[in-house]
Amino acid sequence: MKNKPAVLLSVVAVVGVIVIFILANELKESKVKQQKIAEGNIGSVLEDIDIAYNPPSMDDVPDGPEGDAIKRGYVLMMDTSNELRKKAGTHDGDEVMSQLACTSCHAGAGLDKNVSSLVGVTTKYPAYRPRNNKIATIEDRINGCMVRSMNYVEFEKDDADLSAMVAYLSYISEGIPQGAELPWLGKNEVDEVPTPNVDKGNSIFQQSCIACHATDGAGTGPTTGPALWGEGSFNDGAGMGRMSKMTGFVQKNMPLTDPGSLTLQEAADVSAFILSQERPEFENSDEDWPNGNGPADIMNKDKQQQVKEGSIDWEKVLGHQ
Ligand code: HEC
Ligand code: HEC
Repeated sequence: MKNKPAVLLSVVAVVGVIVIFILANELKESKVKQQKIAEGNIGSVLEDIDIAYNPPSMDDVPDGPEGDAIKRGYVLMMDTSNELRKKAGTHDGDEVMSQLACTSCHAGAGLDKNVSSLVGVTTKYPAYRPRNNKIATIEDRINGCMVRSMNYVEFEKDDADLSAMVAYLSYISEGIPQGAELPWLGKNEVDEVPTPNVDKGNSIFQQSCIACHATDGAGTGPTTGPALWGEGSFNDGAGMGRMSKMTGFVQKNMPLTDPGSLTLQEAADVSAFILSQERPEFENSDEDWPNGNGPADIMNKDKQQQVKEGSIDWEKVLGHQ
């Protein structure tokens, strides 16, 4: 082994070169960032920075009125329909409201990074929304989920519960700069949904989903297995009522016991089965997408019927043509 020193030396040299290369690169990147900041181009710098996923704990909520609002917001996220029914008298909620909670889709009250997280969401609003061709505030966006996903009514602008939800969402968005690129937001959608087989979807449902969501899809509760169809579920104007969004959500997150175990094809099959069943109708759907270009994959009454009759044109619904 008389070459040992030589081998050692070359290893040291190689490592040295790598280290110098990395350092030089870092220096170059930070120069580019400084240059962008100097030019006032902060937005593009924020896009380059990896924002850590580090929402504050509910244990650290401050005392006082602001803290009380945050805590109320959390309770509303976790048990939305029951809490709002308790407000009784204000609406004829019993008949019209779903059995869901915000956490049925935004798991862990929006804190679960993978399941439609809402961490940082307040930094994204106000924002333009093509669905109703308007600039939406965070209050408007919450109300959007209230009338569609929750199949209920909008909060009045001065409702303390609406402010509580905003206080909560602002709290879990703390420390995130306005306009930052947040890779965990809005990631349910699948670009290419495979052509589904509804019968196979039915078998997958019986096999992998009924334990929590029940055989009739009515569910076992908003946090144990929310209603997937029927009177207690979201209406056909909701984002989850689109093939692209439910397929993405299911493939990433369901079954809860083994997320990611379904192929994209299986996720599409079972979503098509679920979305072919009856659900509440969204009343103002004719006001959506005033500029046209509305998505074709919303599984409304007509399309549910077409599945039953076997006349549905999936290629058209899923934009394959
Ligand atoms: C049936 C499922 C469902 C329920 C229940 C639900 N949402 Fe949503 N919500 C969605 C979907 C789907 C989106 C669109 C995000 C996406 O495409 O990934 C969304 C989007 C949002 C956004 C905007 C997110 C963004 O990135 O801009 C907010 C804020 C929001 N929901 C709040 C709520 C609140 C508050 C509640 C309870 C009152 C609620 N949601 C109930 C499914 C749901
Ligand atoms: C072990 C229980 C369990 C199983 C099994 C399960 N889910 Fe879920 N599901 C949940 C829970 C709990 C939620 C609420 C979100 C969360 O906590 O992640 C949920 C939410 C959902 C949602 C969004 C909420 C809604 O009302 O639309 C869909 C869609 C869904 N599941 C579909 C499925 C499908 C499809 C299967 C079978 C492939 C399945 N789930 C299997 C527990 C389960």
